[in-house]
Amino acid sequence: MQKILFVCLGNICRSPAAEAIFRVQYPEVETDSAGTSDYHVGEPPYGAMQQAAAKRGIAMSDLRARQFTRRDFQDFDLIVVMDRANQRAVEALRPAGANTPVMLFAPLAAGFGTDEVPDPYYSRDFSGCLDLLEAAAEGLKRQLGGA
Ligand code: 4NP
Repeated sequence: MQKILFVCLGNICRSPAAEAIFRVQYPEVETDSAGTSDYHVGEPPYGAMQQAAAKRGIAMSDLRARQFTRRDFQDFDLIVVMDRANQRAVEALRPAGANTPVMLFAPLAAGFGTDEVPDPYYSRDFSGCLDLLEAAAEGLKRQLGGA
């Protein structure tokens, strides 16, 4: 079975939402999410994000934040990051010899024309973030051949 890890900074907004969206769209793939920081370890997804997700039937209250570790390169087949800062933080931990691909999520969202998923913790646009994540999840599913 394929294993995909979604990564953002806090693991309370973007990456848990990506995970929650993708696990419904593509249950054949095992998913998890993590943050490059330890700011919110152990916490459930941010309340405003949970509420915005619940409005469109996306459940994520079971998820808990954890920090990304070097071991994740071993444990996952693909690491999907929300922005370039996350990408740099993840790549900085890549063990010698690990060839797990790390890719940006937003370019997979057809028609959005962005490389990064803006952080809704700062922008407060939780609904816009979910629009982008849902489109990117569709793109990822297509790329994996499960369309
Ligand atoms: P996320 O959003 O990376 O999408 O989970 C953030 C949540 C919290 C913080 C930063 C980003 N923070 O600095 O506390």
